[in-house]
Amino acid sequence: MLKIAVLISGSGSNLQAIIDSIEAGNLNCSIEMVISDREEAYGIERAKSREIKTYVIDRELHRDTLSQEILKLTKDKIDLIVLAGFLSILEGELVSSFKNKIINIHPSLIPAFCGPGMYGIKVHQKAVDYGVKFSGCTVHFVDEGTDTGAIICQKIVPVFPQDSAELLQKRVLEEEHNALPEVIRLIAEKRIKVKGRKVLIDEGGFEIC
Ligand code: GAR
Repeated sequence: MLKIAVLISGSGSNLQAIIDSIEAGNLNCSIEMVISDREEAYGIERAKSREIKTYVIDRELHRDTLSQEILKLTKDKIDLIVLAGFLSILEGELVSSFKNKIINIHPSLIPAFCGPGMYGIKVHQKAVDYGVKFSGCTVHFVDEGTDTGAIICQKIVPVFPQDSAELLQKRVLEEEHNALPEVIRLIAEKRIKVKGRKVLIDEGGFEIC
């Protein structure tokens, strides 16, 4: 069974979506640990309520060593690292030794509204201010850049002229809760192939998601 580590920084609603999918029998994987870079992240409570092991590696205390600390916890124990609202940047040996084994969810249609400093509500504010007609979420592999890895799946939502950033966030989050468990299921079922920047999904013949 695919062993995953879920990394969070906040509310953990995406973590909850993964837990719910497993409990509903739609996702065959095991959450071996939840790692947070903030002590006060509510997602930690969600994990504890399911008796999932939790670790806090405080981003302030481990400014230069965060990735190494995560590597110590996950090396040889974890098949897939899932960034579910994890707001620190991963680097170095962690990223190279987990090549194509770290995925991230971002709340926009990459390459729009992404990159350094773009996270959470800021992303939706930029989308609303820009006047885009569609936004959505992207699940992608993590490489050495910020939000630059190969795209696995995107879900699209409409953006209306009267939308606030908060309204858009809520609409996108609903799609995130579908997209992230769906991608983990595809990886668990070994239905994903990576060819350079192209990610192929095996739908019984190869098709793009
Ligand atoms: C989600 O919208 C996720 O896409 C975003 O943070 C939120 C976390 O929500 N991540 C980023 O902005 C990463 N650049 P959650 O804690 O309720 O899952």
